[in-house]
Amino acid sequence: MHVAIIMDGNGRWAEQRGLPRTEGHRAGARAVRRVVEAAARSSIERLTLYAFSCDNWERPADEVDNLMLLLRRHLIGQVARCVNNGVRVVFIGRRDRLSPDLVRAIEHAERLTAAGTRMTLQVAVDYSARAAIIGAAQAAPADASRAEFSRLVGEACHAAPGDVDLLIRTGGERRLSDFLLWESAYAELVFVDTYWPDFDEHGLAAALAEFRARERRFGGLPAEPRTAGAQAARDDRASDCRAD
Ligand code: FPP
Repeated sequence: MHVAIIMDGNGRWAEQRGLPRTEGHRAGARAVRRVVEAAARSSIERLTLYAFSCDNWERPADEVDNLMLLLRRHLIGQVARCVNNGVRVVFIGRRDRLSPDLVRAIEHAERLTAAGTRMTLQVAVDYSARAAIIGAAQAAPADASRAEFSRLVGEACHAAPGDVDLLIRTGGERRLSDFLLWESAYAELVFVDTYWPDFDEHGLAAALAEFRARERRFGGLPAEPRTAGAQAARDDRASDCRAD
């Protein structure tokens, strides 16, 4: 199961307490630690966290610097715990605009945790789903068949094997903000009002319970079995739709 989270509400959490926004992000990083540990103990095989979007560069420079520093410190501080818990860490998004220090910490974490099999933690940094889709489309050969083109774009967007089953957004807003647009084609969406720093294992369990209570139909009828054959036929039909 793949769960993706838009961690929103750090700033408002801090404002509510009369604290600077940076304190909200620090509390957000603590919530990341709690939720990753809870996820690793659950049935989640892949967890993707939206840590920094391409649009977040528009924030004041000191907030951006603080977020980057926090990310680096968190990575360095948590890598041993990830190794011990069997959590493999991978990053998606651009790396060419990140500081060399942060890129080194990312590569170090990816290398050290590469053998983890319990859960994959995907962290999206300087990430834009549209940019990922455009990049993937540009890299596909011009003479690719529709099905081949669809497969290549999907793979390049990390869709295989990582289609999102459940997408959670904290903080009360109800939008996707350019996050995993390709992979979330059939995701169940759960929006919660809790600000990210207050989200914890109970919030995750409640979102998982809501997900389990949903009936997933993938465009079919309620009782349609989800066999591999049905999935392949659906992929073919979808690639026809997308290409037309
Ligand atoms: C959104 O809250 C949150 C972010 C832009 C950053 C998320 C980063 C963290 C939780 C900290 C570090 C991450 C990791 C993976 C260690 P916001 O600032 O937009 O809140 P607001 O909408 O209330 O202003």
